[in-house]
Amino acid sequence: MPLPIETVRAAFPALALADEGRPRVYLDAPAGTQVAGRVVEAMSHAMIRACANDGGLFRTSRAAGAIAEAAIASAAAFFNCAEDEVIFGLNTTSLFFQMAPLIAHDWRAGDNILLTRMDHDANVSPWLQAAAARGVEVRFLEWDRETFALKLDTLPDLIDARTRAVAVGHASNFLGTINDVAAVCAAARTVGAVSIVDAVQSAPHLLLDVAAIGCDLMAASAYKFFGPHAAILFISKRLQSIIPPLKVRPSADVMPTRLSPGTPSFEAMAGTAAAIDHLAWLGEAAGAVAADAPLRQRLAAGMAAAQAHELDLARQFLSGLTGIRGVTLHGIANPNRLHERVATFTFELAGHSADSIAGTLAAQNIYAWNGYYYAWEPAGVLGLRTRGAVRVGFTHYNNSADVDTLLAELAAIARA
Ligand SMILES: Cc1ncc(COP(=O)(O)O)c(C=O)c1O
Repeated sequence: MPLPIETVRAAFPALALADEGRPRVYLDAPAGTQVAGRVVEAMSHAMIRACANDGGLFRTSRAAGAIAEAAIASAAAFFNCAEDEVIFGLNTTSLFFQMAPLIAHDWRAGDNILLTRMDHDANVSPWLQAAAARGVEVRFLEWDRETFALKLDTLPDLIDARTRAVAVGHASNFLGTINDVAAVCAAARTVGAVSIVDAVQSAPHLLLDVAAIGCDLMAASAYKFFGPHAAILFISKRLQSIIPPLKVRPSADVMPTRLSPGTPSFEAMAGTAAAIDHLAWLGEAAGAVAADAPLRQRLAAGMAAAQAHELDLARQFLSGLTGIRGVTLHGIANPNRLHERVATFTFELAGHSADSIAGTLAAQNIYAWNGYYYAWEPAGVLGLRTRGAVRVGFTHYNNSADVDTLLAELAAIARA
């Protein structure tokens, strides 16, 4: 069932904005998406009608508590986990930094951890620092420069009985590759290592499923999936049973307060739940699911509809790119392998710096990124930490006109 793209676009107030008569072409989704209108409404409602700390007996406090409870339930459906396996936080980076010393508390000299050369630094530095503090060896899983896939066949050489943690990204914010994280987590499980999945770049595009993936920790940032600046973290019961709490003495030793100290942003929780509702609504909008179906079922239909739409945009972009001279794409280009990537494309154009391309696009109100987007490891592999590259990302609110506008502008830059 195709997405009714004009209906979907109308759900995002920012898509209607124009500057000096020029519409905005938002291709910056991998860095942060536009916000669904229902998110703005839910946050506004929380701040007007439920503005209090939770735990009190009066109306606004009860309303804040209800918002938190509902948001935890939504996030649990989003991850496919139990409600006492989810916490909210400021962003993924700080959640991983928060968890790292807890997970590392019993690591010893002689132990090792496994990271990847494909990950965003949010899923590298927290574990590097914890390893340094505990005197633990750090190993890296490399990726293949031809296929842009992780070298999973090397896992048996990298993981052993002393491996304590394995951290891997679900989808790369640089290459766009979707990794077989279930295979990596299975390898971690065989030696009892903690498995950590960064789902920040997959969450806007794929149905997450911690049960199927079999990880212990998974993070996703709501501002990358059409919500507010906040993040959610799945922490498996197994992991909860082996890490110390992070709490002040008076707070309850139960989830979520056991591992999320201090007062949460109730408004961000409301907005995150609304973003999840938006993704579920996509399934209804596509006519693929009933409005009264359970949230998880609606989410599955919504993400499937979004994925099909994004696949069309990716195909259109890649096919147009072949007509532009001097393009180097750092990621999967084979149209038969598009199911192995999200629609995030990092590329260079011979004779033009990333900065100048992004600047020219910006002058046309086309929003694209230049640089390496904190993907320190993959940018290092490709020697791009200094000169950087251009990155565009398509998501379910983009339409084929956005792709055409971008291609026309890139062709003009290449000709210049
Ligand atoms: C794959 C990936 N992981 C982690 C992060 C960091 O997320 P946050 O800004 O929520 O800390 C990003 C941000 O770009 C990302 O793309």
